[in-house]
Amino acid sequence: MPTAPVDTALVNECIALRRRLHGDPELSGQEHRTREAVMAELTAAGLEIRTFPGSTAVVALWPGRDRTRAIAFRADMDALPLQETSGLPWASRTGQAMHACGHDGHTAILLGLARHLARAGKPYPVDVKFLFQPAEEAGNGAKQMALAGAMDAPKVEAVFGLHGWPDLPLGTIGVHSGAVMASVDNFEITLIGKGGHGAQPHATRDPVFAAAQLISAAQSLVSRASDPLDAAVVTFAQVSAGRTFNVIPEECLLRGTVRAHSAAARDRLRSGLDTLAVNLCKGLGIEARLHWVEGCPATVNDAAMAALARRAAVRAFGEAAVVEPRPSMAAEDFPFFLEKAPGAYLWLGLGDKNGSLHNPRFDFNDDALGTGIRLFMAILEEKLGAP
Ligand code: NI
Repeated sequence: MPTAPVDTALVNECIALRRRLHGDPELSGQEHRTREAVMAELTAAGLEIRTFPGSTAVVALWPGRDRTRAIAFRADMDALPLQETSGLPWASRTGQAMHACGHDGHTAILLGLARHLARAGKPYPVDVKFLFQPAEEAGNGAKQMALAGAMDAPKVEAVFGLHGWPDLPLGTIGVHSGAVMASVDNFEITLIGKGGHGAQPHATRDPVFAAAQLISAAQSLVSRASDPLDAAVVTFAQVSAGRTFNVIPEECLLRGTVRAHSAAARDRLRSGLDTLAVNLCKGLGIEARLHWVEGCPATVNDAAMAALARRAAVRAFGEAAVVEPRPSMAAEDFPFFLEKAPGAYLWLGLGDKNGSLHNPRFDFNDDALGTGIRLFMAILEEKLGAP
């Protein structure tokens, strides 16, 4: 039996809630008022709540018959350091903080699911676990929750998350059978040479010249060292050296990012850049010091869980509403949950009326909230059967 649409009254409550959250955004790791709002909703719905010392994370449980096992759904709660210019009545009341990535929508959807289950009042075979996550934009919220035991006791056997996606039409669901989002690792390379007169390069070791060679050569990691069918990105985003026309500086600083859709491609890019930077620069008499800021692994859906989510979405919304778009090279920290349990990360079509994510006029499309709740319900029932 297809999962029924969520009732209008509940959707309207979620819209009001989503707009309240939108007006009061908090940055990564500082989601204190958001956490209070989430906990108040969960308490009112009658769910069990777990918190973690020193963290704004919240875990809630809808108890099942077997309290040792669980299926989990996740929402991220943080906002971005951006000045909102939407002019909407519910726009951010805080300067330089804005729900420009739609995490207000994700949080409202997960609270809507909690209310929906609580009102139905029926236990499932196992617990339903709700993961309200801080600091997704910082890339460390999911990792800290997983380390703190959020996926244990009851043990999560399948985990699902979603992200509102403006490129997909409203009412559609994007389900990837494998990679959805890329890994991210940021690098800093300091090239150390020997400064001197711009007219006497032979008496120097020019780190700017070495940087130019390295920036060009690093693209060979994508075009020559990677399988052409593996997506990979190497971007140099910052180049800093020198202060004037005629002085060759001592040092040049390079900063950038690498992205990949598999662990193998990620490792190849990182070790490739290490080797290339050190050896190419050595040949030019320059010392290269690399420092990596490790980010998130690639988000790669478990094939069986993606198939389950696809079946659920087709049953709820019909074949035509379920698509498999090309994956994104942006990153997400959901894979830290996937390291603990198989699962899938889904895209919820928002339509593009408010433009792309991370833009100062973005607003989560409220018309997608009911679809999000119904999608999670459909997955829940596909996995566990009716209560
Ligand atoms: Ni986001």
